[in-house]
Amino acid sequence: MNNIDLVYLDGKYLPANEAKISPFDRGFIFGDGIYEVIPVFGGHAFRLAEHLQRLTNNLAAISITNPNTQDQWTGMINKLINNVVTNFPDILDQMVYIQITRGVAPRDHAFPGNIPPTVFAYADTAPIAKPEYIEHGVSAITCPDNRWQRCEIKATSLLANVLLRQQAAEENVTEAILIRDNFLTEGAASNIFIVKNKIIRTPPKGEQILPGITRDLLVELIDKHKLSGEETMITEQDLLDADEIWMTSSVKEILPVTRLNGKKVGNGLAGPVYKNMLDIYRAYKQSIRNGSVT
Ligand SMILES: Cc1ncc(COP(=O)(O)O)c(C=O)c1O
Repeated sequence: MNNIDLVYLDGKYLPANEAKISPFDRGFIFGDGIYEVIPVFGGHAFRLAEHLQRLTNNLAAISITNPNTQDQWTGMINKLINNVVTNFPDILDQMVYIQITRGVAPRDHAFPGNIPPTVFAYADTAPIAKPEYIEHGVSAITCPDNRWQRCEIKATSLLANVLLRQQAAEENVTEAILIRDNFLTEGAASNIFIVKNKIIRTPPKGEQILPGITRDLLVELIDKHKLSGEETMITEQDLLDADEIWMTSSVKEILPVTRLNGKKVGNGLAGPVYKNMLDIYRAYKQSIRNGSVT
């Protein structure tokens, strides 16, 4: 349950305990839906246009007609954000969760006729990355990427990711870094960057990875600040030999991975290229807080 207690469901704003979804919703029965997580800094949504574009792409990818215009999505998101800003002024950062499922229909795998999708959303406080994670880094393990072949879709059917994250949790590490056919894909809930000899590398976009909004921002910032970077295939050995490894996501932002499979990454500390990137990212985040950048 969220801390804020106001949710949006199918056109209505309700207290969370009054929001009811049918057990025959295809989101519940099949995981037949998509979702978005949008960070909010100082009341301003982070890269809203990019998040809404990904949401639009995902709906098209699974043939759900987009139920809202961009303006309607923006209005709904801002209403949830402003509710928090007004009623919980001490909360600095938030996140908006949006889920759209194909809707309610008798159980049959194939798409039902024309039914309205279910749209659910809420705003909540953003979990803040622990300062010691940023300072000392986190641990990860490598795992075979046993997910499906359409990982570019931000699908709510996340069972494989759930099992991989649970494996990581059972081994007391933060992330499972996934390897498919000897190549790095991404984390179970993050994108991955490596640094070797000061060159920053991340796998190219495609069906094997989620096009992370944080990943795309980093690629943009690397370019803008004229750092040395490339989007390229990365072998498992490249990963194991990296000087630095970073994980990125809306919720985790950028975290250094300083132990992989129980061994130090580089010298086992957050690296200099990471620290520089973090400064650049924080400056960008501050400009969102100020409202000078969207
Ligand atoms: C599998 C996967 N890859 C990458 C990401 C990072 O995407 P974003 O930066 O848009 O949060 C996520 C985020 O949850 C994810 O689940």
